[in-house]
Amino acid sequence: MKAQAIIPAAGEGTRMGSDTPKIFLPLAGVPMIVHTLRAFEACASVDKVVLVVHPEYASEYRSLVEDHGLTKVKEYITGGVRRSESVGNGLTYVDSDCGIIVVHDGARPLIKPNLIDKAVAQCVTDRAVVLGVPVKQTIKKINALEGTVERTLEREQLWEIQTPQVFHRDLLVEAYEHAKSLDVTDDASLVEQIGIKVKVMQGDYFNIKVTTPDDVAIAEKLLAMESVG
Ligand code: CTP
Ligand code: MG
Repeated sequence: MKAQAIIPAAGEGTRMGSDTPKIFLPLAGVPMIVHTLRAFEACASVDKVVLVVHPEYASEYRSLVEDHGLTKVKEYITGGVRRSESVGNGLTYVDSDCGIIVVHDGARPLIKPNLIDKAVAQCVTDRAVVLGVPVKQTIKKINALEGTVERTLEREQLWEIQTPQVFHRDLLVEAYEHAKSLDVTDDASLVEQIGIKVKVMQGDYFNIKVTTPDDVAIAEKLLAMESVG
């Protein structure tokens, strides 16, 4: 089945604290968003990318796409204040004959093309698929006001959820229309809100979201390893 991608890349990158949005930061000499788009360029299952952009930098995204020969980026859409609004803005720009939508954070430049393809294949039967990895650390719920532990969560039940997240088009459109709250950090949350079971597929611990300056250092190391291997 044909799939197309929406890549939200319109965030401010507040936690990174850089002058320009973090997705323009160089990683191994190339802007973060270019690494992400290259993975989509290389995957077999996606034939078009809808790039959701920060309105103040519209021309920068276009230049990067042209300079790096990224042929699958066919639409540039202005993002919203929240991530969910950014993805929501992109929904109508997926071709009407495309049955599967892949959503992937612009800030996850280490995604492997074959994992995108695997998630798309899984979505054909499972309708809603997210990548994730089992949590390795002990996670505690804390009382932020007191700075004390409320309780320790059972690690066996905890997975760290990543993108890509892949959905049958109708399902994702319905989730965006009917979700009670758009105050979420991923798309599966909206699909869960309309009562649909979301399949969790084993992802890759290297598929980090570059969020704070220490993540930049980690991403650089991981990319350097890849270029050697
Ligand atoms: N994103 C977006 N539109 C928004 C917010 C986020 O398109 N209004 C995108 C980001 O560009 C990023 C992805 O969603 O590729 C994941 O968001 P996050 O890591 O939170 O990035 P930022 O929102 O940019 O960072 P911060 O939360 O630190 O401001
Ligand atoms: Mg954010």
